[in-house]
Amino acid sequence: MIKEKEYFNRRKKLLKKIKSNSIVILNSSEVKVRSNDTEYPYRQNSNFYYLTGFKESNSKLVLLKKKKSTEVILFIEDRDKIEELWNGKRLGILKAKKRFLVDKVYNIKEFNDFIYKLKNFKNYYYEFSDSNCIKLNNIKKHIDISYIIGYMRLFKSKEEIKLIKKAIKITKKAHHKVMRIKKVNKKEYQIQAVLEYIFKKNGAYSDAYTSIVAGGNNANTLHYIRNNKKLKKDDLILIDAGCEYKYYASDITRTIPVNRKFNKHQKKVYKIVLNIQKKIIKEIRPGIKRSKLQKIAIKELTKGLIELKILNGNVKELIKKESYKKYYPHGIGHWLGLDVHDASPYFNKANKEIKLKKGMLLTIEPGLYIDSKNRINKKYAGIGIRIEDNILVTKNGYKNLSKKIKKSVKSIENP
Ligand code: GLY
Ligand code: MN
Ligand code: MN
Repeated sequence: MIKEKEYFNRRKKLLKKIKSNSIVILNSSEVKVRSNDTEYPYRQNSNFYYLTGFKESNSKLVLLKKKKSTEVILFIEDRDKIEELWNGKRLGILKAKKRFLVDKVYNIKEFNDFIYKLKNFKNYYYEFSDSNCIKLNNIKKHIDISYIIGYMRLFKSKEEIKLIKKAIKITKKAHHKVMRIKKVNKKEYQIQAVLEYIFKKNGAYSDAYTSIVAGGNNANTLHYIRNNKKLKKDDLILIDAGCEYKYYASDITRTIPVNRKFNKHQKKVYKIVLNIQKKIIKEIRPGIKRSKLQKIAIKELTKGLIELKILNGNVKELIKKESYKKYYPHGIGHWLGLDVHDASPYFNKANKEIKLKKGMLLTIEPGLYIDSKNRINKKYAGIGIRIEDNILVTKNGYKNLSKKIKKSVKSIENP
């Protein structure tokens, strides 16, 4: 569990990183309407949550940095019998004052009056992507806070890692269950239902993103989420599914045979991707760049495509021509944390790529996608494979947090 002190320290750190004479405002997420008066499940804004741990809507965090002092104020909705009857309990101002290590807790109704009375501030920090942030045209300098918080979020604390490990543990149960059950002739959404049943049953609030359950050639649609086709016995099934546990995401892909047994062509492609994935993971350590990992992926996957006789020619030239792109069109991985594609920067302010450092967490997810219409080597047409793990950068190397989720041919065939 993340303690109030940790949120307090994050706000303190943020205050240190901003200029003097500044106002910072962060909004909670908006309630999103699904239709008419029915709402989507509420999910707090990740940056707001990172700094407060508060899950209620219609709240705002204000940080003030004056010349010699700082002030942290949380604006929230107070208790309201009728509102709570319909929409659930609120914390309320009284309890909020006890819980949060902030200087003040005010009613959200007082926000406008409070903010317009402030004088002599020179800088205004907020999320530029948040169209609901109040316009403060009397302040000269407007600065996007997203980069600063995003940079802080790159480094996971012990408590954050615990939550991510738990998310991965639940995700492991879900993938393993699916490996074991009968899948032939089931619909993809039935497999999705099993995954998500296990997420919820184990305390994960929801999926971390819409699960991809892609039988056969559907795996070659990268963001396949329709999940409505029948699983055929001789096909593979690509499952990209992870849960969100106490706001932290896991992001795991496994590609397995519908009938438990790889055929010889599927096995050949699978082993190529698996060996490359392992090779890339071994490269992870502080100081290395993500683009270097992508370079290795491109080189090795190009070699693999030559081995499969799908590409033909000299490795260097093929890379130069980007011939691999048709079969591997995406990146090697991304930051992971409060968001599945964690909202942290990949480049610093000088536009230099950020190198891996201890405490960062990223996915490694190479893949090969050979569409059913591929006529170059028909044996492999319709095979799409991705293998994705979640890797923590440590002092001297890495820790694969999802290494217990089966991925060897033997373990998948005998789950
Ligand atoms: N599940 C989304 C991704 O792998 O990036
Ligand atoms: Mn991913
Ligand atoms: Mn994924």
